Amino acid sequence: MHEIPVTNDLLGSLLGSIPRVSLAFKPTPLEELTNLSKQLGGPRIFAKRDDLTGLAFGGNKVRNLEFRMGEALAKKADTVIMALDVLSNSARQTTAAAVKLGMKSILVLKGAKPDHVTGNLLIDYLLGAEIHFAETKENQRTVIKQLMLDLTAKGYRPFTLSDSPMFMLSAALAYAEATLELIGQLESLSINPETVHIYLSSSGKGQPGVEVATRSLGLPFKVTGVSAMPASKQVRRIIADSTNNTARFLGINLYVRPEEIKNRTEFIGEGYGIATKECLEAISIAARSDALLLDPVYTGKAFAAILADINDGSLSKKDTVVFIHTGGLPLLFNNASTLKSISDH
Ligand SMILES: Cc1ncc(COP(=O)(O)O)c(C=O)c1O
Repeated sequence: MHEIPVTNDLLGSLLGSIPRVSLAFKPTPLEELTNLSKQLGGPRIFAKRDDLTGLAFGGNKVRNLEFRMGEALAKKADTVIMALDVLSNSARQTTAAAVKLGMKSILVLKGAKPDHVTGNLLIDYLLGAEIHFAETKENQRTVIKQLMLDLTAKGYRPFTLSDSPMFMLSAALAYAEATLELIGQLESLSINPETVHIYLSSSGKGQPGVEVATRSLGLPFKVTGVSAMPASKQVRRIIADSTNNTARFLGINLYVRPEEIKNRTEFIGEGYGIATKECLEAISIAARSDALLLDPVYTGKAFAAILADINDGSLSKKDTVVFIHTGGLPLLFNNASTLKSISDH
């Protein structure tokens, strides 16, 4: 077990020793939103552009797919299966990764096929995914079970990515690595770590990676996750558990309690995928100040938290804000009617 604090090099080599394939464009740029800072008279604001990871509109999942697909290939799979939601960003990025690696992608999506196919689903079809729809989680399980049997009988080697323990772990490993990347970028800009506040949209999978890196390296960054979906269990417990499991997997002696985690649920509004007034305002402000595009399901809500914290003085001119842009931009097209207040002007 490695005692904390560990060095950047040690964390980098622990992450580097996990089997993976190379998929993401890295490092992603760290872009300063100078117009927005000026407009708000507030802190320096940077966007870590993980919407630019490549692979069919990019996003946060391209990083974790390096581990997920690495595991599938190590298991000699030729077909990957995923149980996801009908609007899923993850489905799109998984299918793109499968295409790149010459594998077949089968999506079992919860929900009905919409009359108008757009956004991520359109790209899933474009990339050649085989798509099944299932009304409930139970139906998804039944469909996957049958697919595994049928494909195996036909001589394929299918692997259900969403059933592997690596599914959750990979998201945290990926964001520990993204945080290391960010640290190097902040160092090269001579930014004082004491001033850094990191915000990202996370309902439990990515934030543990930022926590693992920050806490293992003994950095003073303040980390705020912003949930996009109400968790069935306490989200801070999910994040603390995943942080501890990930640290254990890496052989780092780190333990965090749920009370030490900051994840805000008040920006969810009425529910998952329902844009709030603050989210629509954030989308519009980011677009019109620095041409930064956000989506109405995830990143718009996370950015709304930053704007709220600047407006109420929780973030001051002395601070440095880093917004990790986790992608999701095809969702803009599913929500054209929600965005009507913007398109009408
Ligand atoms: C664009 C985007 N941001 C954030 C998230 C949430 O990430 P997490 O997996 O950490 O809950 C997702 C999850 O699907 C996403 O698609």
